Amino acid sequence: MSAHASNANARISTRQITGRKGRDPIVCLTAYTAPMAEILDPICDMLLVGDSVGMVVHGMANTVGVTMEMMILHGQAVMRASRQALVVVDMPFGSYEGAKEVAYANAVRILKETGAQAVKVESGPTVAETIAYLTRRGVPVVGHVGLRPQAVLMDGAFRARGRNAAEHDCVIEEAKATASAGAFCVVVEGVAEGLAREITETIRVPTIGIGASAGCDGQVLVTDDMLGLFDWTPKFVRRYADLRGEITRAARAWADDVRSGAFPAPAETYFAKAKA
Ligand code: KIV
Repeated sequence: MSAHASNANARISTRQITGRKGRDPIVCLTAYTAPMAEILDPICDMLLVGDSVGMVVHGMANTVGVTMEMMILHGQAVMRASRQALVVVDMPFGSYEGAKEVAYANAVRILKETGAQAVKVESGPTVAETIAYLTRRGVPVVGHVGLRPQAVLMDGAFRARGRNAAEHDCVIEEAKATASAGAFCVVVEGVAEGLAREITETIRVPTIGIGASAGCDGQVLVTDDMLGLFDWTPKFVRRYADLRGEITRAARAWADDVRSGAFPAPAETYFAKAKA
């Protein structure tokens, strides 16, 4: 049996996630690296290797430039360091919106090369057909509706969706089409509470909200936002730590010690062994 197969059996399954609809909330955080995955794995039901990695780790302005290679590399790191959470890897912009055969080949490559259990796609108007194609061929899919970060070049900015009647109906339709096409859960991002509740009540699979109120079946946040690594975070983020402050304090203290000669001390120094 391969390492991937034995590992997958110990993990929360896609079926278990779907079975949580309307029950205890699903807990999901993003993870991009092995150390973070190891810390978060026992705490979370799902770990999302989000394409937000492009902005959070690689300093990109948006997620459009994220590549298959980046997602696979980060997916592998998260899989190596986790044991129990269901791991989902984002399909990057351009890897699934065209021909469904290409989407299938890219999804299978992600699953095979990382060992993750599912992929996530941003469910624009044309993607339902692709989700059906993937799920019928054994690729578990998470959908993503509402604010779709990969659509930033069309939308012009990251902004909440569904706040007027036309957009509201469009987001509901996308969520319904995504669920009907076979997605086992749907991320709902950046929508008002009423719309999030309506989607959650309408579709038969769990909704996982980010900036989408308490009216969802679970919640996801970008871990680095929640840990306070950035000066600015969106309104919907609650900061549970001030890691930016902690890192700054620690780096300053170390730099001061180096400059004053207080680091390294004898306890942090190797000495030659005394001759016998
Ligand atoms: O890429 C990501 O981190 C995501 C979350 C914002 C849901 O898609």
